Amino acid sequence: MQTINTYKAMKKKGEKIAMITAYDYPSGKFVEEAQVDIILIGDSLGMVVLGYEDTLQVSVEDIIHHCKATRRGAKNTFIVADMPFMSYHLSLEETKRNAARLIIEGNANAVKLEGGSSSRIEAIKAIVDCEIPVIAHLGLTPQSVLQMGGYKIQGKRESNYIKILEQAKSIEKAGAFMLVLEGIPEKLGKEISETLLIPTIGIGAGRFTDGQVLVYHDLLGMFDEPPKFVKVYRKMNKEIIDNVKTYVNEVKSNKFPTKQHVYFVHEK
Ligand code: KIV
Repeated sequence: MQTINTYKAMKKKGEKIAMITAYDYPSGKFVEEAQVDIILIGDSLGMVVLGYEDTLQVSVEDIIHHCKATRRGAKNTFIVADMPFMSYHLSLEETKRNAARLIIEGNANAVKLEGGSSSRIEAIKAIVDCEIPVIAHLGLTPQSVLQMGGYKIQGKRESNYIKILEQAKSIEKAGAFMLVLEGIPEKLGKEISETLLIPTIGIGAGRFTDGQVLVYHDLLGMFDEPPKFVKVYRKMNKEIIDNVKTYVNEVKSNKFPTKQHVYFVHEK
């Protein structure tokens, strides 16, 4: 099993880190078998598993539920659990309690939270002080969708570029062991990755971050029209529909089940 030191060592050696989301027993099993370096129980589960419009309705209970299921499928891979919207905003006490629940009840090895404002820096310090490893997340932070006025690439304007760079430095100082960078120009992803000692993981942050993360359902092509930064490795949605259609047709035309699928009285 990896530890937070595994990723520091990988950055030092220049070895890229492959992170992917997973949300349940089968996806946990598949991504562990595929030897990913780190699994994220993303609050993206609100959109790709639960069918919400955004991630804002995801609860701590949802993350715990999906984290436990994923852990049953991926017993030997480092798992990080997303802290959902409003689970680290109200007080440091509540922040620490929610982070601890993801570790104790969810069986995660670390937690992730979004943002780099001064209150987020305090939240990171408080969680690290509980001996819980923290990953931060900057740039296009999906929990800020209402404030951003949509899912907009961040850091294009100079003032915003500098703000994100400075927040990245504060996050490292606060004790986070990794930083996810989402939806920013490649130049900024490169500069942050070269500036920080902790590894950076990009999603739409260009080619020069220390690793990459993709949403499981995106790389498997479960939905149409994914964002530009997604590489769809196989369009599974059509394949799934075709398989189910074949099953429906075979039931209706008496082609399934055949002799090979049924039990007989004197069978051993
Ligand atoms: O929730 C999620 O899946 C994420 C990744 C997109 C980084 O935060």
